[in-house]
Amino acid sequence: MKAKNPWLDLPLDIYINHMGHSQVLQYQAINGIMQMQAEFAEKNKVNKIAILGITDGNGLQHFSKRPCFQSILALDINPKYLIVCEKTYGSVLNSLHIKSCDLTLCENAIEILSGSDMVIANLVLEHVGIAAFLKVIAGIKENLNFLSLTIQQNNCNGGNVSKSGYENAFDSVGDDMHLIDPSDLTGSLKNMGYMKSKQTLKELPNDKRFLTMDFIKSI
Ligand SMILES: C[S@@+](CC[C@H](N)C(=O)[O-])C[C@H]1O[C@@H](n2cnc3c(N)ncnc32)[C@H](O)[C@@H]1O
Repeated sequence: MKAKNPWLDLPLDIYINHMGHSQVLQYQAINGIMQMQAEFAEKNKVNKIAILGITDGNGLQHFSKRPCFQSILALDINPKYLIVCEKTYGSVLNSLHIKSCDLTLCENAIEILSGSDMVIANLVLEHVGIAAFLKVIAGIKENLNFLSLTIQQNNCNGGNVSKSGYENAFDSVGDDMHLIDPSDLTGSLKNMGYMKSKQTLKELPNDKRFLTMDFIKSI
């Protein structure tokens, strides 16, 4: 039997307190990245966006300012996070739909995500794994022309989870986290027809940084 996903046991307030802590600042960084992703989507006239591992919807306010999107699918394995996401953004973002799904159950995820023309995945690949993620992307096919992906990079051996006073609550999700090699990711996506159009680095405390890469399908 498959082990229970550790994200199902991580309370949302602990996640937010940790990510937003002054020694971590990742919550604030992701909010800024979501703003860039909303601009990228608007510029490319994207209609149907799927955001994988959305947690509480941090950054969705940048999408609510742009009424051009036909649908925004917010997906996460933890249904409790999604309830908060819908409560916070449902009234300002008519196009928002939430869906609880385990991305490693690829066939189910592909069915849910079919019809999306853009996929956003910030800090999710580290938990889902590159193989499952690529399988889902390959399965969506058809209209999926845009990807925007953020991965974490550590510049030294400080561990994957920064110190905030809450870090012990992340032991299980941290054990399950595997850093993604950007060359592996870009190489595999290139083979599937997705060419990198832009990349942005956001420096963070503790010698960490977020690398965001945008891809456009070329064939
Ligand atoms: C590090 S958080 C990233 C949250 C948000 N994207 C951000 O950047 O602030 C990872 C999220 O992915 C979700 N997640 C982890 N494994 C998953 C899986 N197998 N399927 C779907 N969601 C998953 C977790 O529940 C969590 O909300």
